Order: sequence, then C-alpha cells, then structure tokens
Amino acid sequence: MLLMKDIIDDKNPLIREISQPVEMPLSKEDEQLLLDMHEFLVHSQDEELSKKYDLRPAVGIAGVQIGVLKRICAIHVLTYNEDGDVKKVDDYALVNPKIISHTEKKSYLKDGEGCLSVNDEVQGLVPRYAKVTVKGYDVLTHQDVTIVARGFLAICLQHELDHFDGKLFYDHIDKNNPTMPIRNAIIVE
Ligand code: NI
Repeated sequence: MLLMKDIIDDKNPLIREISQPVEMPLSKEDEQLLLDMHEFLVHSQDEELSKKYDLRPAVGIAGVQIGVLKRICAIHVLTYNEDGDVKKVDDYALVNPKIISHTEKKSYLKDGEGCLSVNDEVQGLVPRYAKVTVKGYDVLTHQDVTIVARGFLAICLQHELDHFDGKLFYDHIDKNNPTMPIRNAIIVE
C-alpha cells in the first residue's frame, strides 16, 4: 500500500516533469498501481486508517506524485448532503484522461486548493473551468469513460490533469492579488 513516504513534494524537480501517455492495453503493473493510488485516497479519507498510517486526506492523486511519469490519476470525491450523510461518491482510476471540452465560464474553490505534494498552505484562489468533459479509460470499471463534471469534481480533475504537465495549483494564483475574487466565476464551497 502507498504511504506518505511514497509521495514526492514540490521540492523534488520530478514534480515539474511532463508525464507520458500510457500504452493500451494496460499492463497488470499499471493497473495495480492505479488501484493502489485509489486505495490510498480511500484510506486517507477514512478516520481510522488515516490516523493509523498518518495519511493526509486527499481527493486526488496523479502518477507523478509517486514518481511515476505516466498520465494516470485517481479520484475519490464524496459529496455530502446538509445532514452530513454521503450523497454521492465519485470514484475513478483513470488512464490517459484528457479534457475534450470545457466552458469558458470559470469557477474556483472558496478557500483555495491544496495538494499532497505541497506541504505548506498556499493562500490564493485558483481559476478553473466551471465545467469540463473528460475522456479516459477507467480501471475501476474497466471501460472508457466520459465524465461530465462541474463544481468540486471538475476542479479536482483539472488539478490532477495539471500534474501530468508538471503544473501545480499555485501556478494559477494571481501573484499580485492572490485572494481577489475572480470575476464572473462560480464560487465552489
Ligand atoms: Ni495535487
């Protein structure tokens, strides 16, 4: 299983490298790697396991973050209703995911973003597309998927796909006005 020690941070130059597309059909090793990445996310959001293994809660992870320069990422996003019950779970373990279309409209996370590979808290708003359509192969369901995502999920996907191109969330923050609300953008809580 993956642990925090397996994750590289932004001081490691590898984090800025470009990840390569994965050849299909998927090898058993790559499939297992993606399952491990997804499992890491599930564990990281589990109260007991995250404490036991000292995991930082995360909703997404990309290959480069464990030092693998392949265009693979996993997502585990829980959506809660007002009562605090889980309303929806978005689970993906994606190979070669790609944004095939997006809105011009932007959105941003109200309190900014974080990243497993960024140890310091970085203040600032990160502009993202409000809605994206992502195509890729999903290891969890063994099929090609087309994900139409809005809100938090759309932001997560864009964050992970950025990792494939060596980009980090803080690259998008306006250095002069980091916390100035982004015009005409939807605020995602
Ligand atoms: Ni990240």
